[in-house]
Amino acid sequence: MACHLEEVAPWGRSFEEYRDLFRLEDADLERSILGVGDGPASFNAELTRRGGTVVSADPLYRFPPTAIRRRIDRARPGIEAELMANLEGYSWDYHGSVGDLIEARRAAMDAFLEDLEGGEHSGRYVAAELPRLPFADGAFDLALISHLLFSYSGRLSPAFHLQAAGEAARVAREVRIFPLLGLEGLPALDVAPVWEWLEGQGWTVTVEEVAYELQPGGNRMLRARFTPA
Ligand SMILES: C[S@@+](CC[C@H](N)C(=O)[O-])C[C@H]1O[C@@H](n2cnc3c(N)ncnc32)[C@H](O)[C@@H]1O
Repeated sequence: MACHLEEVAPWGRSFEEYRDLFRLEDADLERSILGVGDGPASFNAELTRRGGTVVSADPLYRFPPTAIRRRIDRARPGIEAELMANLEGYSWDYHGSVGDLIEARRAAMDAFLEDLEGGEHSGRYVAAELPRLPFADGAFDLALISHLLFSYSGRLSPAFHLQAAGEAARVAREVRIFPLLGLEGLPALDVAPVWEWLEGQGWTVTVEEVAYELQPGGNRMLRARFTPA
């Protein structure tokens, strides 16, 4: 069952946001990492610059860089207007203000765009989409999924969530997913079935608090680790 969100505006987070929302320690950054649905985030560009090993998989990378830049530029005013209109619907402790958030995201997406062409040539950006990923079993130490599973719980089906989590667990020995809220800010109903399914497959699953919050109450990630008996 292919399922991708063509209508999702391309909008990407910074390396620092990824580090905080996934609670990434220095030791984590030395592992081989897969970013699923990384879109125009700068995590790959920045981690590569720091000497890390990372691959990003997203259907967005099917488009040429010029088209991706156009889509980002088109999306920005609407996203900024939505944030301004709903200031009280967000927590500003982390970002400070809409202006600071927009500036951080602009810098992140510029870094991504600068890195994209070279990164595609070296295989760091792969056009692919859940629930099927073109990687071998256990190819990565750690898979990160930011603002895709659970965020779009209303639009991506429960079956898709299970297949997608299973696929991430096939290609990596640890999976972290953030946030656990849907776009409307309510706890995502898909968390419990995904949790139960992973535990049923022998994975150790925890929910951990993180030092990142934009959606009020959205400061927790799901962490699943496979530790063979
Ligand atoms: C809201 S953006 C989040 C981007 C990035 N992870 C971040 O947090 O900044 C969601 C991303 O999921 C990607 N996406 C949509 N459907 C997907 C699928 N089936 N598999 C992988 N990525 C998908 C979109 O192209 C988009 O880049």
